[in-house]
Amino acid sequence: MPITKQTIAIIGAGGSMGSAIAIHVAGGNYRLLLFDQDSGKLPRLKEEIQQQYPNADVKAMDCAHDCSWEADIIILAIPHDQEKQIADKIRDVATQKVVVSIANPVDEDFSELTTDPNISAAEELQQWLPHSKVVKAFNTTFAADFEQPVLDGQKFDSFIAGNDEQAIETVTELIETVGFNPIKIDDLVFSRTLERMQFLLLKIIHRNDYQRLAGWKVLHN
Ligand SMILES: NC(=O)c1ccc[n+]([C@@H]2O[C@H](COP(=O)([O-])OP(=O)(O)OC[C@H]3O[C@@H](n4cnc5c(N)ncnc54)[C@H](OP(=O)(O)O)[C@@H]3O)[C@@H](O)[C@H]2O)c1
Repeated sequence: MPITKQTIAIIGAGGSMGSAIAIHVAGGNYRLLLFDQDSGKLPRLKEEIQQQYPNADVKAMDCAHDCSWEADIIILAIPHDQEKQIADKIRDVATQKVVVSIANPVDEDFSELTTDPNISAAEELQQWLPHSKVVKAFNTTFAADFEQPVLDGQKFDSFIAGNDEQAIETVTELIETVGFNPIKIDDLVFSRTLERMQFLLLKIIHRNDYQRLAGWKVLHN
């Protein structure tokens, strides 16, 4: 873990994933900046974080730009169809920063992916933020998994794909703070597979009537 406290901006902090990430990284050595288009969701989230971690360094912010300007790591916890407009707002303050793409670009009834087969949501985000270090992470775990990152004695795997080694390490520390088992992948192109893996998992849990507490595990020696 770095000695200096890193600042994380969570855009969409009031949603299922944004709040799960915020609550579960708050116990680490991080300063948290929370932004959501529905700012009414943030006071309760802040209170919940401070109940669990009285010393948590957490602040609700009024705009995505300011939030990202102060941050070292920016997590976009919003639907993929909202990411272009946020990218346009934060581009000038996201240069050289780690931007985490958690999106699974599925349509509203979860019947198909909205991206072309030859590109992922994360790669699109990288195109919209060409001077940022986009890392694919947190997309293969459900929001419910954060409450219970261990099932049958095994930690859920959490895959991290990116092109920048230091950015992958930074996100690995976040994953470890949350309690998942990080698995590193050295190329953002594999975000295509990771997004399709979660689409497949959605189909599997629906077909087999599993609850949302489900995830991936790579068995190895
Ligand atoms: N849920 C999961 O288990 C899961 C797992 C892996 C990955 N993901 C991915 O995580 C992302 C978020 O999913 P979610 O389930 O957490 O959705 P969600 O519960 O709807 O949360 C999204 C939050 O972002 C806010 N928001 C939407 N557009 C925004 C914008 N332009 N600026 C600021 N805030 C904005 C929403 O506000 P409003 O309520 O006002 O719209 C909401 O509070 C998606 O890309 C999804 O594919 C979800």
